[in-house]
Amino acid sequence: MKKRIIAFNWKMNPSDAKSASALFRFASKYAKQPIIVAPPFVYLPLVSGLKSKLHSKNIFLAAQDAFVGSSGAFTGAISPAMLSEFGVSYVIVGHSERRYVFGESDQLIHAKISGLQDFGITPILCVGERKKSSFEASWKIVKNQLDKDLKHAKKNNLIIAYEPVWSIGGNKPTDASHSVRMISKIKSFLHTAYSIRVPVLYGGSVNCKNIDKFLQYNEIDGYLVGSASLKKDQLSCLINKVI
Ligand code: 13P
Repeated sequence: MKKRIIAFNWKMNPSDAKSASALFRFASKYAKQPIIVAPPFVYLPLVSGLKSKLHSKNIFLAAQDAFVGSSGAFTGAISPAMLSEFGVSYVIVGHSERRYVFGESDQLIHAKISGLQDFGITPILCVGERKKSSFEASWKIVKNQLDKDLKHAKKNNLIIAYEPVWSIGGNKPTDASHSVRMISKIKSFLHTAYSIRVPVLYGGSVNCKNIDKFLQYNEIDGYLVGSASLKKDQLSCLINKVI
């Protein structure tokens, strides 16, 4: 059976450490195969400690963002070096919420990706069109993001997450055939243009009800899940179905 990746992006949730601890313990119980969990920065010491205590060898920690370098005068920023102290192996970069709520540019995203790769942490680069439109128009946007964010990076320690922004939100419409077509296009583009083969995930309102639509496509290497990762029944169901 194809080995798939499942990554849970908690975003700015849950609102207190006790709930974060309960959610992590629950995920740990169900992680019979490797999964990736991306809690908010402030919970990383807590979940990193729990990971050791519970011997959760199948949980790999991700951060939701990182800046570049190891230290310096960058108020509010967290460096890859700081994250690695807490056992972080992946960092989500260029999520649409970072791009459009916090105004991150492709130039900054590129710098973050290079810094993480040089440091040995795998970036999970999110790309995707904002509005639902034709495949050709969407691909133009995604290709532009890949060109600017990767700038001919040839490194294989990279995961791409295709997240059409219009499908993000937990309960938005999804379009598996559009997504699988885009994922195949991303893969062939990266191989032809940059000679790299990396996993490409789908993200956007993935839940236990709609996951079967996506699972039938071998081209999708895994999933980046937001809202559903905060609900225990969804979390266990997705883990069971995906890996
Ligand atoms: P939802 O699963 O809530 O749509 O979020 C997807 C996402 O943005 C994951 O990074």
